[in-house]
Amino acid sequence: MMSRQILVTSALPYANGPIHIGHLVEYIQTDIWVRFQRLRGHRCLYVCADDTHGTAIMIRARAEGRSEEDLIAAMSEAHQRDFAAFGVQFDHYGSTHSDENRALCGEFWQSLRQAGLITERAIEQLYDPEAKTFLADRFVRGTCPKCGRPDQAGDNCTCGHTYSPTDLIDPKSTLSGATPVLRESTHLFVQLEKLRGFLTEWVDSSGALQEEIANYLKGHFLGEELRDWDISRPAPYFGFEIPDSPGNYWYVWFDAPIGYIASTQQWCQANGESLEHWWKNEACEIHHFIGKDITYFHTLFWPGMLKTAGYSLPTKVRIHGFLTVNGEKMSKRTGTFVSAETYLKHASPAYLRYFYATKLTPRVEDLDLGLEEFAQKVNTDLVGKVVNLASRVGKFAHGTGLSPQYPDDGGLFQAAAEAGHEIAQAYEACDYARAIRRIMELADAANPFVEHAKPWEMKKDPNREAELRDVCTVALNLFRQLSVYLAPVLPDLATKCGELLGEEITSWDQSRQPLLGSPVGSFKRMMDRIQIEDLNKMIEESKAQTDADTPEGASPFDDSDQPLKDEPLAEEITIDDFAKVDLRVARVIRAEQVPEANKLLKLTLSLGGEETRQVFAGIKAAYEPEKLVGRLVVMVANLKPRKMRFGLSEGMVTASGPGGAEVFLLGLDEGAKPGQRVH
Ligand code: MSP
Ligand code: ZN
Repeated sequence: MMSRQILVTSALPYANGPIHIGHLVEYIQTDIWVRFQRLRGHRCLYVCADDTHGTAIMIRARAEGRSEEDLIAAMSEAHQRDFAAFGVQFDHYGSTHSDENRALCGEFWQSLRQAGLITERAIEQLYDPEAKTFLADRFVRGTCPKCGRPDQAGDNCTCGHTYSPTDLIDPKSTLSGATPVLRESTHLFVQLEKLRGFLTEWVDSSGALQEEIANYLKGHFLGEELRDWDISRPAPYFGFEIPDSPGNYWYVWFDAPIGYIASTQQWCQANGESLEHWWKNEACEIHHFIGKDITYFHTLFWPGMLKTAGYSLPTKVRIHGFLTVNGEKMSKRTGTFVSAETYLKHASPAYLRYFYATKLTPRVEDLDLGLEEFAQKVNTDLVGKVVNLASRVGKFAHGTGLSPQYPDDGGLFQAAAEAGHEIAQAYEACDYARAIRRIMELADAANPFVEHAKPWEMKKDPNREAELRDVCTVALNLFRQLSVYLAPVLPDLATKCGELLGEEITSWDQSRQPLLGSPVGSFKRMMDRIQIEDLNKMIEESKAQTDADTPEGASPFDDSDQPLKDEPLAEEITIDDFAKVDLRVARVIRAEQVPEANKLLKLTLSLGGEETRQVFAGIKAAYEPEKLVGRLVVMVANLKPRKMRFGLSEGMVTASGPGGAEVFLLGLDEGAKPGQRVH
């Protein structure tokens, strides 16, 4: 087999916050791939760095009364500590705020200038005269110019209207409370459109992108003129000043990806290697692992920059989806926004590595950490099947050692050795879910062997010592095969297996030959089951953190979804128009299934006294009928009755949501009386 030379990166995490379990999807995914390649005998360099520049860091450092350098140094230390705890092993962890990065940025900049890709234009932007800084949209709030609601964000109002912060009535800086003033400044732009030919070709035929991503780029960006990319920010800004444009700084997204190269360079300097060998060498593969939110930067700007500056283009940009927890976006309010640090207090990192591996595929799909499923997979599969194989014979094997000849195991070892090809293919393709499924099938086949042999009974009979040794030999060799296959995911388990059997696991090929005739070490516990209470504590602790962490004035609620974008507000009406709709409080007194209807429940509503109405509501997927009885709802009481296949519908209950399981009935606080009008 030809040994490959591979450079691997994960996205550079922002230095303005701690590592959380969402980030870890990516760093664990990448680390597994790197460890796999090494196990296969390839040369693999894994670099990363902190992404340190930008307004957010500057503002935070000011708020904490320290220098940016001080803040990013502390963050870097915390990030590296968290990564190490999760077994994410970089060859080098740098910072975008380094001399190497500054020099490389200068070099890229020169190339872009020489290629005639840079242009200049004046931009008017709001400026905070007290904080003495230009204001990104999110630092301005004011009254919506369309509907007049006060205290709206700098770029959109809750009414659905979008605008530029300069359109706000009575705008205020969230940094100082001062009234921002309009100030003109010069910005520098990269004319991406000039690279269209190259980018189209690269997206189409380099093979670097997942198909869904290539299609998305062709449909969304390459389908129309590529907009100039605003690549500079005026002072004050925490970043690198542009050498030939004093007072202007490179926008953080310019210097961040160059940080991949700068970090490699620092590693090269420390290890006596040349940067060209990694970044200007056709024989070297380059793989970027990133999340779907930063696709655009890595698949258009970055290849454009690399091409212009004469560096290698990525062999693959491997894009993953986002983590949800219990089926929902991570949220501070519900305690599912779990930091790496908090996780570590309650559960072993191996569990999370294993669980993410069972979920990761080569597709750009979100993956869910359901806590029940998490505990179940770890306890049943990992502890119950894999580790169990070793623990059932471990305590006997120390006495017996391994047999000199491999005993008849009914073909189990051979079959598992052959499965190695398929498992390796799955890892290579980042289809860890498939790799793990295959490995668990092997574990399922191995366990019955021990169950039938009953080594614990052999142990009681001194005449059966040879038999016992054979059973131990089979079970431990099957366990060792699983440990090799799982080594990229569970390096600690592989180490313990190596210690038990007296031979370190360093190569995939160790799964092909059994170990024979050697002593076995004394058995130590390898992994414990997850206790669901520990996970609950983890969530509780994360909930408690929100209050302390949430900056004053910031909302602890995550309302970042924007339904108004899909459904803008309807045309204006008068109060008289509204009065035509007679909304009434009603109590559900009966709720029944309608067997012939897929979506409907039949509700009987009381409007007080003897007045009842029958209403068919499309809420079957969202509500169980028994739970509705007794609830107060809001009904449209003067809607013209409608004859349906199942009977007459005499009104409508009000609800929000797109439909299906996502329907939310309007309710009223207890005390409201059925029949009352809703104004
Ligand atoms: N600093 C930029 C990357 C610059 S790369 C030249 C950045 N940083 S980040 O800290 O916000 O995110 C780092 C990586 O973690 C990104 O690839 C991002 O997609 C990923 N994730 C952050 N939150 C995530 C989830 N909830 N789920 C999965 N991945 C997530 O972006
Ligand atoms: Zn508005």
